[in-house]
Amino acid sequence: MKKRNIIIDCDPGIDDIVALCFAVANEDKLNLLGITTVAGNQTIENVTNNALGLMSFLNKDIRIARGAKGPLLREKKPASNIHGSNGAGDYQLPHTKELYSNNAVMFMRDTIMSSEEKTTLVPVGPLTNIALLIKTFPEVAEKIELISIMGGSTDVGNVTPAAEFNIWADPEAARIVFDSKLPIVMSGLNVTHSTGLFRKDVDDLMKSSGKVTRMCGEMLNFYFRGDHVKKGTFTPIHDACAIMFLIHPELYKYRHMPVTVDCSEELSRGNTLCDTREWIDYGDMYPKVLTEVDMEKFREILLNNLYKLDELYK
Ligand code: BDR
Ligand code: CA
Repeated sequence: MKKRNIIIDCDPGIDDIVALCFAVANEDKLNLLGITTVAGNQTIENVTNNALGLMSFLNKDIRIARGAKGPLLREKKPASNIHGSNGAGDYQLPHTKELYSNNAVMFMRDTIMSSEEKTTLVPVGPLTNIALLIKTFPEVAEKIELISIMGGSTDVGNVTPAAEFNIWADPEAARIVFDSKLPIVMSGLNVTHSTGLFRKDVDDLMKSSGKVTRMCGEMLNFYFRGDHVKKGTFTPIHDACAIMFLIHPELYKYRHMPVTVDCSEELSRGNTLCDTREWIDYGDMYPKVLTEVDMEKFREILLNNLYKLDELYK
């Protein structure tokens, strides 16, 4: 598999942190050109601190650029109930790394345009930065390989019955991205609700003698308090799904279909209306929407990679 250039656009966020760890564990397949942050699960200050904190914890030099402070049109509403008041489940990460840039959109543009190979964007937070990038620098389009999005759903939402958090947090930005005609893969709740870890896995992580797995375990223990877990036995690690697709696409089934983001003021605001009518063949001009995942292999690969990091970052 050819090494893929990626930029992860995130709002860490507990599952974002696990996804970042997973990406770092796969540096033989992913060339992590940078991390950009966006207000979502917490304020831009907190999520940027968490990205810097994770790289400090790993003592890893990945360029980090701070992005949008809030959605295009609305006030920002954090998800403290799920990710805690600092966004990392109250875990205290160290702080030794400095911000590379305070302009995520410029950073993405410069990085994409100066790379010889095309770049894959992996947005796992609200789509504010990506929308601004596409609108401000449309020339990036031809150098974007793929946008692997964690967001949306073909069926049920989480923050409302109709909407998934990342899309609901900035529907206008999501509309711009989904309407852009760029190649998109959507990891929505319909699959991410099956991509995660069991309570027992998190207990094992917490007991681990490895520093990375123990940190993930402690954060995920906090995450387990949220009402998004299934009867306390299983928690989705939503954001890792968008990374996993890049490394192990064979775990998934998908269909191309139009995805329309609801920007109305109604109860359906933030819904991703996916045209799942099976009798229509849309070809590949519409987003690739993941529809099924091999849940057991996902869990096994994710766990193995987290434990692998303990060896690399002692
Ligand atoms: C998404 O919302 C956030 O809380 C998570 O980090 C994930 O990106 C799931 O709906
Ligand atoms: Ca996220």
